Amino acid sequence: MSNVAPAKRKILVTSALPYANGAIHLGHLLEYIQTDIWVRFQKSRGHECHYVCADDAHGTAIMLRAEQEGISSQALIDRVSQEHQQDFARFAVAFDNYHSTHSAENQQFSELIYTRLRDKGHIATRDIEQMYDPVKGLFLADRFIKGTCPKCKVEDQYGDNCEACGATYTPAELIDPVSAISGATPEVRSSTHYFFKLPDFATFLEAWINDDHVQPQIRNKLMEWFESGFNEWDISRDAPYFGFEIPDAPGKYFYVWLDAPIGYLASFKNLCEREGLDFDSYWQPGSDAEIYHFIGKDIVYFHALFWPAMLHGAGLRTPTAVNCHGFVTVNGAKMSKSRGTFIKAATYADHLNPEYLRYYFAAKLTSRVDDLDLNLEDFALRVNSDLVGKVVNIASRCAGFVKKLGDGRLSSHCAEPDMLARFIEAGDEIAEHFENREFGRAMRLVMELADEANTYIADKAPWALAKEGGRDQDVLDICSMGINLFRQLMVYLAPVVPQMAEDARAFLMIDSLDWDSRQTWLGDHAIMKFKPLMTRVESDRIAAMIEASKEDLVEEKKLKEAPKGPLAEQPIADEIAFDDFAKVDLRIARIAKAEYVDGADKLLKLTLDLGGESRQVFAGIRKAYAPEALEGKLTVMVANLAPRKMRFGVSEGMVLAAGNAEGIYLLEPHSGAQPGERVS
Ligand code: 2FM
Ligand code: ZN
Repeated sequence: MSNVAPAKRKILVTSALPYANGAIHLGHLLEYIQTDIWVRFQKSRGHECHYVCADDAHGTAIMLRAEQEGISSQALIDRVSQEHQQDFARFAVAFDNYHSTHSAENQQFSELIYTRLRDKGHIATRDIEQMYDPVKGLFLADRFIKGTCPKCKVEDQYGDNCEACGATYTPAELIDPVSAISGATPEVRSSTHYFFKLPDFATFLEAWINDDHVQPQIRNKLMEWFESGFNEWDISRDAPYFGFEIPDAPGKYFYVWLDAPIGYLASFKNLCEREGLDFDSYWQPGSDAEIYHFIGKDIVYFHALFWPAMLHGAGLRTPTAVNCHGFVTVNGAKMSKSRGTFIKAATYADHLNPEYLRYYFAAKLTSRVDDLDLNLEDFALRVNSDLVGKVVNIASRCAGFVKKLGDGRLSSHCAEPDMLARFIEAGDEIAEHFENREFGRAMRLVMELADEANTYIADKAPWALAKEGGRDQDVLDICSMGINLFRQLMVYLAPVVPQMAEDARAFLMIDSLDWDSRQTWLGDHAIMKFKPLMTRVESDRIAAMIEASKEDLVEEKKLKEAPKGPLAEQPIADEIAFDDFAKVDLRIARIAKAEYVDGADKLLKLTLDLGGESRQVFAGIRKAYAPEALEGKLTVMVANLAPRKMRFGVSEGMVLAAGNAEGIYLLEPHSGAQPGERVS
């Protein structure tokens, strides 16, 4: 046991930001559980540790998903954020702040970092050619193009690689390419893109990745990339795009991966504002705070190359370390929807205690990047044998005697002071393993201690002693020793199974299970009546979870195959009386002028000629029409709609348009119609 109190560290921790268009599943949970355990451990040790995360809300996929659901991108990301936070709460993943990349803070930091990089000459622009969907009116990323593989001629392959023969190619090489979004034949179009000049940072990055900021396996991978040379990184996307417009570049948006890691700063800033923390003391160069990013091995390039280079280039400090983990497999294979092993967080939690999974992951986690297999049989055996059979068993065997013989009070006498001292001292080694993210090793040590405690109780056999008429005090001393050992174990397990620890804390009637709280003997102290702190994993619950995951797949398919079309998207509203309809005064209007509205990405300002009277109307049709294409056209307007004050001015009526996921179309009367004529 060390007598020197460790200095209080300032630590900021992040997990990767989940995309705001899909559910959290067990693959995600490995990372959040790993990070949360590490954070809880740091907090237990008394350090100032903040854990922040956010939804990764931008990009084409989210925009298209919202369109598909017939809702706005904002509505989609708001809903998914709630769902994600509910899932995290069920697994006791306790962020200090959960924010969104679609936030004011993130826009500010994205603009700040970009303009600093630009002003230092680290941004280049050039025209590139890309496939364009003329029906949807957007440039297509490779995964949104499908066609026949140019090598093996198998149909329906993605724009960058063939799943049948493994060939890689450019979308232009595909035979008969089509847009996966609209089915249209894409055209090649040119547009100006903005690039982050990563090669400017080659020297800096080489030093950085060789300075213990990443694990050795990752360092080796990075050095391979390093040796094959860096390209400039395309950080812009053309409108329409759900994201932030690039300053001084109208119609150009930051690529989602540019502002995603900046979301770490944004979420932390949001926390700092709320709690009065000093943001700069974490992020300014020379800061004594530690910053750790926990990520999966698929996104190393972004976190260990682009991100430190962006931060460094923008005059901010770089992370202390990027901690990378492998993927989750289930029963030795990639998670599979058809086998029911692609398990959503919510589906798991509907069937099984989330703490089982936290423990199982902890028991198998190392500091390396290897994949982790969730073998469902082993999972049940391990949890039942360790948590229920070893740990809970200690308390359940001893608590009854404390109640009966000590009237619920632990003995003041410590029967085995050496043993207690060893349990306390073991905390130093266990702590070291937690610190180094060797959770499996930490759990092994804890279970060795649990074995020792069980052996002690089995050897002393207080039940036999009580039966054979031994001294009550001796029985109470043995059982008080057992309860004290149980308390030590719960201190070490608390970061892993926080709910069980909370229940144990309540049972022990103590204030805290923090790391240092274990230093004393809990004697002459009342405890509560014992209630089982964890029940066994039942294999039928696992089977039910697998079945439910297969059902999830059926539901998803139904959603995808649901009838499309206006009626499916917007069912007909409640009936109205004829008189109500007759109140609507519809008139032919000529669009005299159409203009963009500064700061509004959906609106056009229309000046309408009603045949002698002029009206100003704001219409949400910017995505569908260029203003010059509208001028001179006839349309239909609601002429007696009460004027509405909008952010950009007063709208004096409404033009009629029909909209669906594919776009929006102004209604056009026949060409002989006259402005001002009533439509009936
Ligand atoms: O891969 C992903 O799921 C990304 N949404 C992770 C982003 S992490 C960070 F950069 F924001
Ligand atoms: Zn092929």
